[in-house]
Amino acid sequence: MSAGEELRARLAVALTRARDRSAALTECVDETELVAQHSPLMSPLVWDLAHIGNQEELWLVRDVGGREPVRRDIDELYDAFRHPRAARPALPLLDPDEARGYVAQVRDKVWEVLDRAPLRGRRLERDGFAFAMIAQHEQQHDETMLATHQLRSGPAVLTAPPPPSPSWPPAVGAEVVVPAGEFTMGTSTDPWALDNERPAHRVALPAFAIDAAPVTNGQFLEFLDDGGYRRPELWSARGWEHRQSATLAAPQFWERDGAGNWWRRVFGVLAPLPPASPVVHVSYFEAQAYARWAGRRLPTEAEWEKAARWDPRTGESRRFPWGEGEPDSGHANLGQRHLEPAAVGAYPAGRSPLGVGQLIGDVWEWTSSDFQPYPGFSAFPYREYSEVFFGGDYKVLRGGSFGTDPVACRGTFRNWDLPIRRQIFAGFRCARDVVGA
Ligand SMILES: [Fe+2]
Repeated sequence: MSAGEELRARLAVALTRARDRSAALTECVDETELVAQHSPLMSPLVWDLAHIGNQEELWLVRDVGGREPVRRDIDELYDAFRHPRAARPALPLLDPDEARGYVAQVRDKVWEVLDRAPLRGRRLERDGFAFAMIAQHEQQHDETMLATHQLRSGPAVLTAPPPPSPSWPPAVGAEVVVPAGEFTMGTSTDPWALDNERPAHRVALPAFAIDAAPVTNGQFLEFLDDGGYRRPELWSARGWEHRQSATLAAPQFWERDGAGNWWRRVFGVLAPLPPASPVVHVSYFEAQAYARWAGRRLPTEAEWEKAARWDPRTGESRRFPWGEGEPDSGHANLGQRHLEPAAVGAYPAGRSPLGVGQLIGDVWEWTSSDFQPYPGFSAFPYREYSEVFFGGDYKVLRGGSFGTDPVACRGTFRNWDLPIRRQIFAGFRCARDVVGA
């Protein structure tokens, strides 16, 4: 197989995997549920589905393929910037059958475009970037649709085997010291990296220590039992204000029974809270309060990336904590193979050179950093992907969750959200300053 054929085959696999997942997430519920809004934070599933097809049409059929529009008349309906999520159910959306027919029609044309595209020349097409961008876009919406599934009420419709058990359990609170010095953050060479991950640049950091694994339910419960949600001194001013107005008293989807035991609801199934698994569905403000209670802090985005990518032997930054190779099922809990984070100490093969575990997969990790451009940033291929979010009230999350597909996850990948959000699959780990390392 020539390099061009191999690239075409990889793009086809990524696009097909995304579509299979979109289908699985929308075929397991009935029509009423597809058009319903399960939370004002989320779109109806049928909006996501047709929006996926519309983005694919805009970039691959019309731009790369230079073809006639399939449905120019619906562009406005599926423009995420024109209609906030809460307003989407009232729009004259395609119904579920129309949406399925539309995405299939677009995909058929995309296969023809992919067959003929040179995959070189202008930047949008070089290395198949536009196709990879669209596969990532679909997978990002699939993760959003998975979050909608978590918010819906009613009997469980999703199933998956449990995640693997721990095999290198770090001691509770174990941390890794990262020595002071420069490292390369971001990338200029990863062909499918998005604009906000670019360009590569050197960043100097003082020494710091970072948790060897994400903070667990058991650890978070200690904070809760110690009055963490009732002590304003542990919270930032904004965090406390939000804690009060939203009456937060535990992570989202936690429930306490009459005997005082904690349970958590996962995709319609109520089960005892697993103490050794990373805490999930906490906001930035809750993560920040926990860190202060523990006498620690959240890592900056640069600290997270150095812990994940920096190899002390070579001084280089790796693509993933384990090296350059694509994630497989032994490296990380990605791709909705499981429906929850794995206990701390799973995935020993996924550890970074310094021995930090579970950076990729399981839970998105809140960092203390605002979402800002790297030095030398330029928007590509459109301002609305990242640039319009810079400088807003967004905190960066890193590493991907069990619901993130490998195509949309790497050591440089940056996610962002409002500090109050917790319907996303977000947890965190802590860090602290180290003097003299
Ligand atoms: Fe989108």
